[in-house]
Amino acid sequence: MYRLIYKSRSILVEVDMQTINDIVERSKDLNIKNQISGALIATRTHFLQVIEGEFAPVNQTFFRIASDSRHENLELVSFNQMEKRLFEGWVMKGFGIFDLNSDLEAALKKKFGVEEGGVRLPTQEWAALSLMHDIKLIHQ
Ligand SMILES: Cc1cc2nc3c(=O)[nH]c(=O)nc-3n(C[C@H](O)[C@H](O)[C@H](O)COP(=O)(O)O)c2cc1C
Repeated sequence: MYRLIYKSRSILVEVDMQTINDIVERSKDLNIKNQISGALIATRTHFLQVIEGEFAPVNQTFFRIASDSRHENLELVSFNQMEKRLFEGWVMKGFGIFDLNSDLEAALKKKFGVEEGGVRLPTQEWAALSLMHDIKLIHQ
């Protein structure tokens, strides 16, 4: 099993829930077919995505995503072998971290910093996984 994490910048002026739902909806069948699980976190300006699965499908899915013109400035955060999926059962779950309550948003900004008015999506693996964990807890 492998886990890949990347960050990118949206080409849209403002990402909204519709954008996230469109991407997740379009990816569903492909991710099921490729046995990919993961999560997609978006701020108004950036994406942070975790893709988990076997080596070849993760690799191929990442390159397909990377050539998508809806985002740019892709930064690979990590691509590691792992024992167990973190997002077992999630074909791909999308989260927008812009309509959170203000206390929560303030807490995330304090922990991860601010970027273009939103929570700064981290480019270090430990911080990215920590953010994913926080988001997972909030939505359980
Ligand atoms: C931020 C973002 C995340 C995406 N996540 C996935 C994904 O998890 N799985 C996937 O198959 N496609 C994902 N896509 C969509 C792919 O880029 C691509 O549109 C889709 O796989 C269909 O491929 P095609 O357009 O070549 O038919 C994502 C796109 C963006 C912009």
